[in-house]
Amino acid sequence: MDYLKYNRGIVEQTPSNDKGESLNLFPTLVMKFTNVLSSENISQIYQTLRTDQSLKEDNTLINGHSNFESKEDILNKLNLRNIMQEKVDLYCMKAKFTNIIVANSWFSIQSIGGMLEDHIHAGSLLSGVFYINTDDSSSPLVFHNPNLASTHAYGFYNERSEYNFDLFRVKPENGDLYIFPSWLRHGCNYIPNQTQERVIISFNTLSRLTYT
Ligand SMILES: [Fe+2]
Repeated sequence: MDYLKYNRGIVEQTPSNDKGESLNLFPTLVMKFTNVLSSENISQIYQTLRTDQSLKEDNTLINGHSNFESKEDILNKLNLRNIMQEKVDLYCMKAKFTNIIVANSWFSIQSIGGMLEDHIHAGSLLSGVFYINTDDSSSPLVFHNPNLASTHAYGFYNERSEYNFDLFRVKPENGDLYIFPSWLRHGCNYIPNQTQERVIISFNTLSRLTYT
């Protein structure tokens, strides 16, 4: 099948095939990094954050607090900005983005029964979430499939495939970092947190061209 795109898109010709061919267009890149810091460093950060005085109410959190509204930039305070930027750079190498720098950052603590409402990170290209205190009882991180075929597919499939699932759930461990497009809707899918203090650090990014 020949297919064409125009304007600034890609023009490509692909060979025909009797059995059909799969054109996996428009993938969504989510990257996971594990053991970003040692477990000793992670527990030191946990002790620092659980006694931080800048926690406030957060509209996206049920039974939880964050310092999103405060002036404190938690990556700067913990000296983690460079290591997060390294991971963002790895994402950008794969996705062929340039000039993306880590911008604002904050942390949040969920209590038992805590839930993160579905949301996106407006005004940012990539976002990251770094897990500081989580365990088997913690609420998961759930991404919503942005491909509308997934939400139109009810009643049209007998089994799940990468083309019809609507949610993707991950169970993060301490020291895991996920980087994803900021427009990608995520939350906990109403699965309440059962960890006493579920602690994460989040950040957004900006274009270096507008920041400097
Ligand atoms: Fe988020």
